[in-house]
Amino acid sequence: MPMICLSDFEDYAKQYLPKTTWDFFAAGADECCTREDNILAYKRIRFRPRMLRGMSVIDTKTTLLGTEISFPVGIAPTSFHQLAWPDGEKSTARAAASMNTCYITSTYSTCTVEEIAAAAPRGFRWFQLYIHRNRALTAQLVQRVEALGFQGLVFTADLPYTGKRRVDIHNNFQENICTEYGLPPNFIDPSINWNDIYWLKSLTRLPIIVKGILTREDADLAVRHGVQGIIVSNHGGRQLDGGPATIDALVEVVDIVQDKVEVYVDGGIRTGSDVLKALALGAKCVFIGRPVLWGLTYKGEEGLREVLQILHDELRLSMALAEILPSHRQRHTDITNTCLIHCIANFTKTRTGKTIFGHHLANLIRTVLN
Ligand code: FNR
Repeated sequence: MPMICLSDFEDYAKQYLPKTTWDFFAAGADECCTREDNILAYKRIRFRPRMLRGMSVIDTKTTLLGTEISFPVGIAPTSFHQLAWPDGEKSTARAAASMNTCYITSTYSTCTVEEIAAAAPRGFRWFQLYIHRNRALTAQLVQRVEALGFQGLVFTADLPYTGKRRVDIHNNFQENICTEYGLPPNFIDPSINWNDIYWLKSLTRLPIIVKGILTREDADLAVRHGVQGIIVSNHGGRQLDGGPATIDALVEVVDIVQDKVEVYVDGGIRTGSDVLKALALGAKCVFIGRPVLWGLTYKGEEGLREVLQILHDELRLSMALAEILPSHRQRHTDITNTCLIHCIANFTKTRTGKTIFGHHLANLIRTVLN
């Protein structure tokens, strides 16, 4: 059967993975309200499509902190890829490089960072960092990934403790899993705070992207502490249950950041139209988590490439059908008067009182024209 959408890969993974692995990948915290809402929130947003705008050229290229990628969908950090495919993160690295997008490598990878770098030497990678209680170990790791050519450090802020994932507790999962660093996840330092951004800056020249921001207050603090990027994320609903869907949180983050740093989003992105909605609301790029694991489960590198290609194709089609491709003749002043996206949710007014549409559309157009 041909795989035509991401839920085909999800069905495949559910059928073929051992139950404990499937449960670990799928798990959300507590009652999984936030995990579910990440997906449902996209369904509450509708396009306001335009017609007859001339759609013969659709360009999806964009940049992440200056590096060009083919389309605005990157790979979020997820752990233990060898549970999905024997080659694990090496396959992930190759797929990301061949699709010319960004791969955020997890601290809890099952291949070493050296193996991952060697698998796709020219790939564009950021490294996701959990700060461990053993600070010297963390410092060594940062220096190691910088020397290997990773181009950014993604500091995950939303995991002072691991969320309560009921299925993993039932399954006694993680009892036997050690990472290459020999530390189980509960060795993460719960004292992490904003000053640790300065500590990280003292260790590395890599740009720092903070992952797990959900409020305007924290977005503002992130900018003030000198990060270069923010990933609006709730860890796929695996940490605090009852927090907002990320696409809803994106709006207030983009509003306060006002283009001072790049803003990205992850969580619940399953179709190309989800990607387009996130871009229209101000994200420079989106990242996918679980769909990467489903693609790897299906056929390793090739399966993940298929997942990325489907999202790319669907994004292009959504742009074409909603005709959200500004003519290059269109002037900036026209943009604010042209509300291309209509959101059913109640966030059409921001704190500054401005309608969100013009500002976010401007970001979208920049993405498209890049
Ligand atoms: C994650 N996530 C995650 N985040 C992180 O910063 N470091 C990590 O090691 C992991 N590991 C991890 C494992 C698994 C199995 C999942 C599902 C998620 C969170 C991840 O980066 C991302 O925020 C979410 O997965 C995005 O949501 P979707 O796309 O899975 O809905």
